[in-house]
Amino acid sequence: MTRGLFISFEGIDGAGKSTHIDRVAQLFRQAGRAVVLTREPGGTPLSEKLRELVLHEPMDALTEALLMFAARREHLVQVIEPALARGDVVLCDRFTDATFAYQGGGRGFDWQVLGQLERMVLALPDGALRQPELTIWFDLDPLIAAERLASARVPDKFESQPADFFAAVRAGYAKRQAEMPDRFARIDAAQTIDTVGADVGRLVSDWLKRTAP
Ligand code: TYD
Repeated sequence: MTRGLFISFEGIDGAGKSTHIDRVAQLFRQAGRAVVLTREPGGTPLSEKLRELVLHEPMDALTEALLMFAARREHLVQVIEPALARGDVVLCDRFTDATFAYQGGGRGFDWQVLGQLERMVLALPDGALRQPELTIWFDLDPLIAAERLASARVPDKFESQPADFFAAVRAGYAKRQAEMPDRFARIDAAQTIDTVGADVGRLVSDWLKRTAP
């Protein structure tokens, strides 16, 4: 049976990851793979309800972190694990690294506590932790991201944060990458959309060659 693959896409708001997730999905579909495109917070009916709350209601930092992880647990059990067991490719728009970057970096919430929650929530029945095998981090200067977002849409709770919040989120991603360099690939998202797309395509195909059984 084909091996399931789990790839996550990360970056500050406005970094442009969504366009590229669709392109990666197309690449895998063209190669004959079944693709599950999903997102966090969200991905199941309950997790989407939690998304609504967490993106629009003001709340305590621990409450926010717990809701992110509650939504993630449901998503993991209901969607991600079954898809990987079927041998599908799971492409996830944000995963746990976003909690470290936004709640840890952006909000300044305790990094160690997030690590404890991560170990609890991502634990599989055999005790291993489910992590993405590849994380593509669209890295962009927060000032450029803010310019891109300004014309794009009505901002949610996070998108309306000031630029220094996003500088701290970006630092959170960098810290996470330094902790887990093997699965974390940084893409320079300040380039044109086509150049970023070409970088992502190359990254994914090199990674597939490197990790082929
Ligand atoms: P996003 O993924 O950017 O979706 P959209 O493109 O529809 O706006 O929005 C999700 C927001 O939630 C984003 O601002 C980051 C934030 N977030 C966290 O703060 N912590 C998390 O753990 C996750 C998954 C997302």
